[in-house]
Amino acid sequence: MSYAKNVLVGFCVLVASALQCGCGSENETNAPAIKLTASTVASGADATAHVHTVTIPFTDISPVPVADVYQFRSEVSNGHSHVIALSKQQVIDLNNGMRLALASSAANSGTSHTHSWSIQGGSVLYEKNCYNCHSNDKRNHNPMNVSFNSSQISAVMNPGSAPLSTSTPATPDPNYSPSTAVSLDGSALYAANCSAVACHGPLATSSKQNKTYNQIKTAITNNSGGMSSLGGLTDAQLQAIATALIK
Ligand code: HEC
Repeated sequence: MSYAKNVLVGFCVLVASALQCGCGSENETNAPAIKLTASTVASGADATAHVHTVTIPFTDISPVPVADVYQFRSEVSNGHSHVIALSKQQVIDLNNGMRLALASSAANSGTSHTHSWSIQGGSVLYEKNCYNCHSNDKRNHNPMNVSFNSSQISAVMNPGSAPLSTSTPATPDPNYSPSTAVSLDGSALYAANCSAVACHGPLATSSKQNKTYNQIKTAITNNSGGMSSLGGLTDAQLQAIATALIK
């Protein structure tokens, strides 16, 4: 598949992802996350070839990141898992199409080693803004909707050639465990779920200003423009988005 062309970096692959904001007509895959696989053991004694995957929700790759550090624990493989961390500036860099090279924390059990991970901002932009309508068909194509800046456009067209972020990386906490706390930050939720170029645009100029909780809920229930993909948001989160939309 054409997806494979994008995966230039041997040690790590963006394997599967899709658009959370369901604004297109084809919504066969609406996983609200980006899944990475690290396939190279970067350092340490564990020479056994093994890979880990980690899932990063789009809500955490918002153009307006709110936290200083975003951490993610990988799935278990070979009896252990690892943590990767993104700094706020790295999230901003990703949204500008840059590439990130990360080192994971050491394993939480067994022999001590780390993995190398790579995230291509151009692919993230594609997943967020194009995948839902075009599946993999328009990878490496000129973005048709351009509220993108020139770096973002080049990155979508060639994710593997985008500049590597030089922002100071975050240090992963090897003891980090994912919290189940649900964000109720309406602006951040809007930015992550609704602001894609093909959807409703940035909050300040949203085409959905002053929409109420009931109107948003109905749009999701009726799958307006594919919005059923937002069915995972809680009522409290929808209320927070409605509050953020009040002008
Ligand atoms: C809301 C759905 C939707 C989204 C989101 C969307 N497209 Fe499209 N795109 C279309 C439709 C419909 C067409 C016209 C039919 C076709 O050519 O497939 C089209 C056409 C295109 C074309 C061919 C025509 C042209 O202008 O060159 C390209 C290339 C393209 N899109 C790339 C992208 C990229 C890259 C993104 C993400 C930044 C994107 N599109 C986002 C629906 C969408």
